[in-house]
Amino acid sequence: MAARQTVCVTGAGGFIASWHVKLLLSRGHYAVRGTVRDPGDGKNAHLKALEGAGERLQLFKVDLLDYDSVASAVAGCEGVFHVASPVPSSRSTNPEVEVIAPAVTGTLNVLKACYEAKVKRVVMVSSVVSVGVNPNWPKDKAFNEDSWSDEDICRKNQDWYYLSKTLAEREAFAYAAKTGLDIVTICPSLVIGPLMQSIVNASSKILLNYFKGDRETVENRLRNVVDVRDVADALLLAYENPEASGRYICNSAPIKVSDMINILKSLYPTYTYPRSFVEVEESSTYSSDKLQKLAWTLRPIEETLRDSVESYRAFGILD
Ligand SMILES: NC(=O)c1ccc[n+]([C@@H]2O[C@H](COP(=O)([O-])OP(=O)(O)OC[C@H]3O[C@@H](n4cnc5c(N)ncnc54)[C@H](OP(=O)(O)O)[C@@H]3O)[C@@H](O)[C@H]2O)c1
Repeated sequence: MAARQTVCVTGAGGFIASWHVKLLLSRGHYAVRGTVRDPGDGKNAHLKALEGAGERLQLFKVDLLDYDSVASAVAGCEGVFHVASPVPSSRSTNPEVEVIAPAVTGTLNVLKACYEAKVKRVVMVSSVVSVGVNPNWPKDKAFNEDSWSDEDICRKNQDWYYLSKTLAEREAFAYAAKTGLDIVTICPSLVIGPLMQSIVNASSKILLNYFKGDRETVENRLRNVVDVRDVADALLLAYENPEASGRYICNSAPIKVSDMINILKSLYPTYTYPRSFVEVEESSTYSSDKLQKLAWTLRPIEETLRDSVESYRAFGILD
């Protein structure tokens, strides 16, 4: 049995972080500090109900922009999983305040607190949006970790979320180079899978939109998706493997929207799905070869879709 180790997960009540907290608790030897903005808020109640939470989960009230609150959660931790960042469902009207500052200043606050606390490794969740906005990348080649999104293009397109993730990840590696702090980033594609929390997060809304029945026609683009539980596994692999370094794209095999809907139809025939598809130019694809070398394995898409729908039904989001 490995010795007890204290780790911190920021934004613990969110979609990805909730699964990650569950995974850490299931290992038995991690004591977990989860940061949330309001520990009393009912939307975080699922965390307290997790197996092992009574003995090994502590919730800390933290706002990423309040350095002292971040530092108090991180002090005494060996590892930190920085997951929290705003993920807006629509275009922000005040992007600097609502999206960029919490992502960039928030990340720098977490990293500074980790440095001061002599944390051994920080694993941070970035995104493929910090990889794929790169017009110089060859059109026929899957994106890999060498590609960085062009900040000027993100700004020009007012893709504030893309910009926030790109800036935050770049700042993280600049901080690592300056201080020697060990930082590894995980860059997931669109994350889907079962909800643990009652609030529907932005990426789950994209899947749920296919059930609304108000869209006859959808674009048949190639979707890069990944199961939320596979993202949690990737975070832990990147933390526990001493060889892990740099960035890791975290993506399963790309799938056409029509194929995804056909799987859903075969599993749940009674919902109303889009009926026709408009073919679009092939979208980008992303290679997870580097992550697979850390022995990362993936759930089949059928399992991801079935478990997602079952959770929507359990929460009363779908009939
Ligand atoms: N879902 C995806 O498809 C996807 C793909 C790639 C990368 N990611 C990244 O994965 C991470 C988690 O995303 P998610 O999908 O799990 O979204 P989520 O459920 O919306 O979780 C985001 C979390 O960040 C917290 N947060 C936001 N601003 C904060 C602040 N100023 N101080 C403290 N906490 C703050 C939120 O806390 P509150 O509950 O208090 O708002 C929430 O817990 C993010 O870094 C996101 O960029 C997500």
